[in-house]
Amino acid sequence: MASIKDVAAEAGVSVATVSRVLNDHPSVSADARARVLAAVEALGYRPNAVARSLRTDQTRTLGLVISDVMNPYFTTLARSVEEEARALGYSVVIGNADERPDLQDHHVRTLLDRRIDGLLVSPTDGGSPLMLDTARGGTPMVFVDRWIPGVDVPVVRADGRAAVRDLVSHLYGLGHRRLAIIAGPAATTTGSERVEAFREALAEYGLPLPDAYTGQGDFQAESGRRVTDAFLDLAEPPEVVFAADNLMALGALDAVRARGMRVPQDIALAAFDDIPWFVHTDPPVTAIAQPTGELGRAAVRALVDMIEGRPPQSVTLAAHLVVRRSCGQPAPTPSEQPPATNRSLS
Ligand code: HPA
Repeated sequence: MASIKDVAAEAGVSVATVSRVLNDHPSVSADARARVLAAVEALGYRPNAVARSLRTDQTRTLGLVISDVMNPYFTTLARSVEEEARALGYSVVIGNADERPDLQDHHVRTLLDRRIDGLLVSPTDGGSPLMLDTARGGTPMVFVDRWIPGVDVPVVRADGRAAVRDLVSHLYGLGHRRLAIIAGPAATTTGSERVEAFREALAEYGLPLPDAYTGQGDFQAESGRRVTDAFLDLAEPPEVVFAADNLMALGALDAVRARGMRVPQDIALAAFDDIPWFVHTDPPVTAIAQPTGELGRAAVRALVDMIEGRPPQSVTLAAHLVVRRSCGQPAPTPSEQPPATNRSLS
């Protein structure tokens, strides 16, 4: 394999000049730059990233630990993180925690061992000792989507409260009064915040959220199925099921169909998080959409600011309601479009 010395000899310049060209240093003549790049190409030279990181104490690598890579929300998030990191000159190594705190710790440990420059995490729970130590230690860290209260780390997230209020207003306007929720795990901020937002919005309309209408899910489709089954077995089932994530909404849709019932005629359905196939389901599903691509990009920018010594910004963006047909109302045409997150990472 060609070395930097071979490139210098081939180009007829010093090793220092080759290094300056490779690092985009301005003080190199156009002619020398052209000769170095031609030699790099001719010899197939590839800089040794390990040697470079030993020299600079930087790996130009970010770690991203997400809670569930099978959830389209997190897949979209990971894609935008990777895209923004690449634009800023960083690579990303992804760890999928699969909603398991032990796996999350494994990924955090492995990434720290690999000397990543910074870490983005969407925590699976309230924080293991390793996670808390890492947050308090020297490694730059940013929480994205989920966060751990009381830990002093920048947070990049969406606030769904106003969108949940818009959803409840929409449901109330359609005449629905018995509204139920399939909640996510209370140990996650997204799990607890979505139930609280729903409860508060119902209260504004003078509606209760009885325990029987608060089903505990785990952000996976099977729990959506199970909780919806339990709702439908009640003597007085709810008129609406609001699933706190997209996968539980798909499970809920399955459970309704398995009984030969129809959405929205027999029961209405709404979801937190819009996903591309909600326009293709029958009926298209009313959902709260997050600016997922923008969240990923903002999280990377905050982390790179920390790494490069600039003050990082916590960022809170708004989510918004996309009305389709699953709650009983024909959709206005624009909401029938696939969510923007799938077409481009807008
Ligand atoms: N879990 C599942 N889906 C989500 C989450 C979450 O924490 N946040 C946004 N979509």
